[in-house]
Amino acid sequence: MSDKKLWSGRFSEPTDAFVEAFTASVEFDQRLYRYDIQGSIAHATMLARAGILSVAERDSIIAGLERIREQIESGQFDWSVELEDVHMNVEARLTSAIGDAGKKLHTGRSRNDQVATDVRLYLRDEIEIIRAEILRLQRALLDKAEQEAETILPGFTHLQTAQPVTFGHHLMAWFEMLERDRERLADCNKRVNIMPLGSAALAGTTYPIDRHYTAELLGFERPSENSLDAVSDRDFAIEFSAAAALIMMHLSRMSEELIIWSSAQFNFINLSDSFCTGSSIMPQKKNPDVPELVRGKTGRIFGHLIGLLTLMKGQPLAYNKDNQEDKEPLFDTVDNLKGSLKVFADMIPAITCKPESMREAALKGFATATDLADYLVRKGTPFRDAHEVVGKAVALGVSKGCDLAELSLEELRGFSERIDADVYSVLTLEGSVAARDHIGGTAPAQVRAAIGRARARLAGQ
Ligand code: ARG
Repeated sequence: MSDKKLWSGRFSEPTDAFVEAFTASVEFDQRLYRYDIQGSIAHATMLARAGILSVAERDSIIAGLERIREQIESGQFDWSVELEDVHMNVEARLTSAIGDAGKKLHTGRSRNDQVATDVRLYLRDEIEIIRAEILRLQRALLDKAEQEAETILPGFTHLQTAQPVTFGHHLMAWFEMLERDRERLADCNKRVNIMPLGSAALAGTTYPIDRHYTAELLGFERPSENSLDAVSDRDFAIEFSAAAALIMMHLSRMSEELIIWSSAQFNFINLSDSFCTGSSIMPQKKNPDVPELVRGKTGRIFGHLIGLLTLMKGQPLAYNKDNQEDKEPLFDTVDNLKGSLKVFADMIPAITCKPESMREAALKGFATATDLADYLVRKGTPFRDAHEVVGKAVALGVSKGCDLAELSLEELRGFSERIDADVYSVLTLEGSVAARDHIGGTAPAQVRAAIGRARARLAGQ
């Protein structure tokens, strides 16, 4: 169809063909159609209540918009690049379907407040979906942590064996990261859920509009306070992208651990075949592609955050066309974040851990050295002296190629007379983890208590 531009009144020459394609956003902003139509229906409803549209005009507009929505959803809508963006595509189609009433829809509004509203409606929905997906992943972690509350593996600092920890405790560390992520999104949503509509192009409108009513119809917390700010700033999208970057940073750390743990060298876990792929040349390979891809996707999501910040930083008030560039990074962030969370939530239950290998690794590397020092302190040795004594015992173990628990009582007493036969119970892995029995500690009893508190926090969400 020949689509006459809705703003062509003052132009005498047609748009350059390349410029038309270059400036159009319809290819990517058409995905906002549902929100664009939702916003238009609320706007028309408000205009009729304010006496700016007749009831008949309102009804015809609403019916027309609903028909357009059906056409889009059934693939019968012809998107036109000449009509530039989703807003003008929908409006032009409405007018061709219902006539003059369609031309009145844009009364008291501009594409500037329209697009800012659409993006906020979109993001509000996506935040809800993403929060639910985080919750699903958290629940998977809770179940796994419960199963593995007593399973012992080496805890690391500097990726060197540090102290034994329970696997349940490790998984609950991931849970906590995600809990903050979920809270951050809820907080971000408070600033997303503000309505720009009614700001019009930049200064507001001369019509007697009722912005509180439109906000109520659209489920916004309130109308925005300042029209110049509302049509121009995209800080809400940047804030979301920052929250998304943090989530991906967390997923990437988890991915890194899953990759290391599933290597033949660590052999702590088995990733189910359905989350791995093979190699086209090396028949023995089973690669942890899913966590690798999530770790890789983290890069582009960090990039989108910087992209959006940079997009905004040079813009004078109010709306500038620069802002059209906010959509692709935002959509890509949402899509990849949702995908990464989904695949993680599906993958976690399919992980099996190998407690024997974990245990074997925990027994190497003098993981209970701190426990021996604490034992000496309990017997009256000052901590710094105990540290020194245990260091020497470790050196002996290194030279003999054995762990502290494998040294004889005689050998141990050679370092301190305070050591007795009861020392061996503190040198066991079970003794070591069970002794860290306070809130936030790795003892199985504490892990179970933490899981209980976490389940109570999530109840009813
Ligand atoms: N497609 C535009 C965007 O995404 C809609 C707003 C256009 N406004 C304008 N004054 N050109 O930002």
